Amino acid sequence: MTALAPLEKRWQALRRRARVCRACPLWMPATQTVFGAGRVDASIVLIGEQPGAQEDLQGEPFVGPAGAMLDRALAEAGIDRDKVYITNTVKHFKFEPRGKLRLHKANAAEQASCRRWLDAELGLLMPQAIVALGAMAAKALFGSSFRLLRERGEWRQTLDGREAFATIHPSFILRQRSSEERELAYKGFVRDLRLLVHRRAISGK
Ligand code: URA
Repeated sequence: MTALAPLEKRWQALRRRARVCRACPLWMPATQTVFGAGRVDASIVLIGEQPGAQEDLQGEPFVGPAGAMLDRALAEAGIDRDKVYITNTVKHFKFEPRGKLRLHKANAAEQASCRRWLDAELGLLMPQAIVALGAMAAKALFGSSFRLLRERGEWRQTLDGREAFATIHPSFILRQRSSEERELAYKGFVRDLRLLVHRRAISGK
């Protein structure tokens, strides 16, 4: 048995428990729980917001268009996706029609219910750095007064004392209207991700 095996076992048990979570109503319309994925001994943990339609179907985080954008930016920043652990603040897809609008974002109560899983994941993993992707993840890590556009790309400690920073969510890049705006947002995203390389958060793992 390798040193990793006990950790992997605890993580598998956690994932099994999350699979049947009924702590908020989001499990009902969702296809499945989308738990975090990646190496349990990763030196970097990336935290997104919540699964989208593709993630809901495939059961893996960041496998849709935002995931493709994330992969491209990670590669350009010199970070191997296979060596990071990726998860979300909320583990179920949300899709709620509201008149002409379609609400995707979990509300405060749903986010609070799901928090136990993120806390359990972070309690188990021992990353050297955590990156919050988007405002929802940033507020979950740093508190509700965190302002993403003002404070992105700044190393700080999480509420429980870990090294972390926040950057934009990859779908923010996809939402930009012109190719120039998309390029600008993408460059800023890659620049932020490179902070991980400069801090040498990427070891052999
Ligand atoms: N957006 C997220 O925040 N997470 C995913 O897993 C996919 C899209």
